[in-house]
Amino acid sequence: MSEKPGVYLNDRVVPLEEARISVLDHGFLYGDGVYETMRVYEGVVFRMEEHLARLERSASLIGMGLPKSAGQIRLAIYETLLACRHKDAYLRVTVSRGEGPIGLDPSLCPRPTFFIFADRLRPIVRADYEEGIRLAVVKTRRNPAEALDPRIKSLNFLNNILAGIEAKKAGADEALMLNCKGQVAEGTTSNIFFVKGGALCTPSPACGILMGITRDVVLEVARRLDIRVVEGEFGSRDLFFDAQEVFITSTIRGVVPVRQLDGAFSPGSFPVGPVTKLLMAEYRKEVSSYVENTRAAGPSIWGFGG
Ligand code: PDD
Repeated sequence: MSEKPGVYLNDRVVPLEEARISVLDHGFLYGDGVYETMRVYEGVVFRMEEHLARLERSASLIGMGLPKSAGQIRLAIYETLLACRHKDAYLRVTVSRGEGPIGLDPSLCPRPTFFIFADRLRPIVRADYEEGIRLAVVKTRRNPAEALDPRIKSLNFLNNILAGIEAKKAGADEALMLNCKGQVAEGTTSNIFFVKGGALCTPSPACGILMGITRDVVLEVARRLDIRVVEGEFGSRDLFFDAQEVFITSTIRGVVPVRQLDGAFSPGSFPVGPVTKLLMAEYRKEVSSYVENTRAAGPSIWGFGG
């Protein structure tokens, strides 16, 4: 089996060494562009339609038309996965404003650059799921929606990168960012949940967060299980003093328990509690049934993946 990643640039699959873009690409010069990260399980892209819809929304929020239809992007994804040959993979679709002369004006770039990259997943750290990770509340605040709408999954990731640097310095695995009002917002690449008095709490869209696709799946599953869900506005006190369980969610990692919270107050520690365990198990079931149904319905790359 080939160990090479799958790479698709503009209109075809290419070897990684040949995938080159211009130094005048505005994605490189200005972070002008959008992207999606998807997870592939047994050759099936989990919740691909939701990711494609978010890509389309991000592009439209920056006034950029996608250079391909949803159908063409689906085909390009399958072609990339065939070239990648990992059935369990990380897959990223990136669309930048494209090449153009120096200058911020998007009309300088006649054609967006379209790039897909699929590769094997980094090995999962079992202890993260069994014991939980460390989260640190950092000083870097989440971009306010009035400055850069956090619903846009943009190539402009410095806000999150700076938060991540702070968390790493603090010895934590992930940063927790507050918004400019001091409310709990989200991680650098994850959404946050906590359990308080039996209710599952998570910051509402009004807190200025990326509307995570894993977040949506967890909310769907929790409601199906009759768990009370509160999408609200919370301060770090709610987490440090009232939370019984804490976890984060993201496409690549799924549901990951948090065992320790540092930052705003003296460290809080949390067990991997019953609600987290239940939601981790139900999330895995949701993925399995999605994979099964998609493969039964086809089309899928299953059977071609080597
Ligand atoms: N990041 N919040 C932010 C700021 C994110 O970047 C992400 C995802 C999430 C979780 O969203 P989802 O459940 O749709 O993955 C929340 C991806 C994984 C990334 O940056 O690669």
